[in-house]
Amino acid sequence: MIKLIKSTFYNEEDTKKKLTYFISNATQLSFGPQCQQFEKNFAKYQGAKDCVFLNSGSSANLAIIQALVNLGKLKPGDIVGFSALTWSTNPMPLIQLGLLALPIDVEMSTLNVSSKKLKEALDRYPIKAFFLTNLLGFCDDIDEIRVLCKKRNVLLIEDNCESLGTIYKGEKLGNFGIASTSSFYVGHHMSTIEGGAVCTNNMSLANMVRIVRAHGWDRNLSSANQNKIRSKFKVNSTFYSRYTFYDLGYNLRPTEINGFLGSLQLKYISEIVKKRNKNFFTMAKAIYSRTDRYFPVKYDHIEFLSNFAFPVVCKSVAIRDALVEKCSNKVEIRPIVGGDMTQQPFFKKHMNMFAHVLQQSNAELIHKQGLYVGNNPELTAKELQTIIHLFTS
Ligand SMILES: Cc1ncc(COP(=O)(O)O)c(C=O)c1O
Repeated sequence: MIKLIKSTFYNEEDTKKKLTYFISNATQLSFGPQCQQFEKNFAKYQGAKDCVFLNSGSSANLAIIQALVNLGKLKPGDIVGFSALTWSTNPMPLIQLGLLALPIDVEMSTLNVSSKKLKEALDRYPIKAFFLTNLLGFCDDIDEIRVLCKKRNVLLIEDNCESLGTIYKGEKLGNFGIASTSSFYVGHHMSTIEGGAVCTNNMSLANMVRIVRAHGWDRNLSSANQNKIRSKFKVNSTFYSRYTFYDLGYNLRPTEINGFLGSLQLKYISEIVKKRNKNFFTMAKAIYSRTDRYFPVKYDHIEFLSNFAFPVVCKSVAIRDALVEKCSNKVEIRPIVGGDMTQQPFFKKHMNMFAHVLQQSNAELIHKQGLYVGNNPELTAKELQTIIHLFTS
């Protein structure tokens, strides 16, 4: 059986050895210098001014939305668009924080939202922000999405949990909006077991994410920023300053174990993404040639494709069902990410007003006729051939 995920870490044996040594010798395992070092390293890799490390990609999504609410950039009742084809914890924080989560359909050819689909939604609804998902390492015309958002005064946030390392027109995905989120869960491009991040060039937003990450207090701000916030709120006494809670927060902190792993795994990231890219092209060349079975996937507009998993959208439910049957006990497969969010029970329950705005959508078709097979840097040539054979014969 070819599993979706083969290991917890890239270079697993060596990583586990180093981790064991680190834990045995560490004097602190709760949030500390390893996490802060990883924040610097990851910001540099992403090409962002700042990075805030959190305990999951879902926490990063929650923290960025809470930070925007705390800063008054979003208010309860505001409409926020999101990609209809995504993971549950992309729209969930919107709903949890009293925003109206409006699904925006994706393109069949890229599985991602295009500026055309966004424009259609903007022409119908007063959208304040767009929480775009860069799905599976792909994107559509995200440069045009950025232009459109600027023009219409829409805050653009990227959920880049599946697209670490993809480059579009010379820019890394995750750098097109005001902030982006990443996931370092097992099976993602790099793993810290559990982990996530918010990257941004906006320092007041990064500060607020740090406040949101830990209880609403200021302990992880620089001393200059602590002084600023303390004087704003007239907190003079050191007795109270460590226990003043400035805004709404949670405890979403990672541990030193995650921080240590982050810096270690980041050393392998260019090797990892190159292998994922190569695996993708090997499968794509063979499998997408079966145009009688699968809808075409467009990816030649992407400069470097850091693929997360290999998707196919079958031309009928019968073709998809036959493929599921064929793969059973041979290759582990699953629906494309979390499928069409409007089909999910949580969405119908909590955001019913927008559960039917997309009629006969591409997201629905992909939900019903799509599946994906894992891509990871440890796939062997033989395994790739087995997958190709199953999907083409
Ligand atoms: C697009 C997207 N957003 C968010 C998440 C959540 O990340 P995590 O599992 O680290 O909470 C995932 C997880 O796979 C995802 O695919």
